[in-house]
Amino acid sequence: MDFMKLAQKYQTPLYIYDFDHICEQFNLLKEAFRARKSLICYALKANSNLSVVKHLAALGAGCDCVSAGEIKRALIAGVSKYKIIFSGVGKDDSEIEFALKEDILMLNVESEAELKRVEAIARNLNKTARISIRVNPNVDAKTHPYISTGLKKNKFGVDIDTAKKLYIYCKNSPLLEPIGIHCHIGSQILDIAPYRDAAAVTAELLRSLKSLEIDIKFFDVGGGLGIRYKDEVTIKPYDFAQAVLANLAGTDVTVVCEPGRFLVGNSGYLLTKVLYEKYNGAKRFVITDAAMNDLIRPSLYESYHEIEAVNKSGGGTLADVVGPVCESGDFLGREVLLPQLSHGDLLVVKSAGAYGFSMSSNYNSRFRAAEVAIEDGKDRLIRKRESFEDLIKLEQEYL
Ligand code: LLP
Repeated sequence: MDFMKLAQKYQTPLYIYDFDHICEQFNLLKEAFRARKSLICYALKANSNLSVVKHLAALGAGCDCVSAGEIKRALIAGVSKYKIIFSGVGKDDSEIEFALKEDILMLNVESEAELKRVEAIARNLNKTARISIRVNPNVDAKTHPYISTGLKKNKFGVDIDTAKKLYIYCKNSPLLEPIGIHCHIGSQILDIAPYRDAAAVTAELLRSLKSLEIDIKFFDVGGGLGIRYKDEVTIKPYDFAQAVLANLAGTDVTVVCEPGRFLVGNSGYLLTKVLYEKYNGAKRFVITDAAMNDLIRPSLYESYHEIEAVNKSGGGTLADVVGPVCESGDFLGREVLLPQLSHGDLLVVKSAGAYGFSMSSNYNSRFRAAEVAIEDGKDRLIRKRESFEDLIKLEQEYL
């Protein structure tokens, strides 16, 4: 990738996504589930740029959405409504109403109270709501506590017994049609065992529902497949699929999975320009034009992203790579081995395609970065750099 040329053409900070890599990742996963009907619902929260979603939709992906905004993005990007799932612990009435009116595949319900709201809203609309129940299997995904979701102490889903009760409630309601079971245990998962355990618990529930003549068609195993940021050993899509499918013998459910990071994470680069170098005592800082508002993962989870100097090689010394934001927690990397750098040199932050731009903000009144796609060797802008006018447009009229 010609980062120099891209920086000249689009300026920095700049997000760059390799669309061919996204395609490869999608096909790997689809292929892994070849033996069975499957639906890959891309978790939009990882990167909701319309062109990214459109690219995945063209490959056949559905979407896992967690807000009306994400559903709207998916629809605009051309995702078939029958491939859209609506998840999340706190859907409000207007979002439930919107999802029902749009006739998406299913709402993934996370509590008894929510189920009753969905039923009431379906009644008002004179519609039947297709739903799945999110089961919390109480399995430890062994990932960062902030992104672990499948334990009792987490806010997500309901336990198996409650789930069964809710399915029976649905069976007796003309307004609720239970068609799926859902389970998502966390993110950046590197160990196959929790997937196997969660699938076993959920498959047992599936079987007991069949015996109650509740006809579940979709078995949703969530997302969470980890990627390599540094030297992690990741789960192979084939092994992931086998861990799930091994529990489904004798059933004919469609397997749904909701990968976000796996599809887009390693496709993305954050390109940034060096503003200054400075030493505080013996400590070396490289100050860049990208900051925590562009990529918050290092600050929020102490996540590691590989950082490399563009077109500069040779040894170097350790430096903290920091942004201009007024917080000591504003860093992109710590103790990074970098050659001597000067004003205008470029650094590239890798594996930034997931939860990078989508978690970015305007903190410190900074404009969010531009985004570029690379496909078949050609680059194209997929989101303009924000301007000062964008920043103030919702406030200006109140002056
Ligand atoms: N499905 C559900 C219901 C989810 O909550 C999530 C992610 C996914 C699918 C997709 O998970 P993935 O395949 O991307 O791991 N901001 C954090 C990650 C938060 C993930 C939240 N839920 C990070 O930057 O690491």
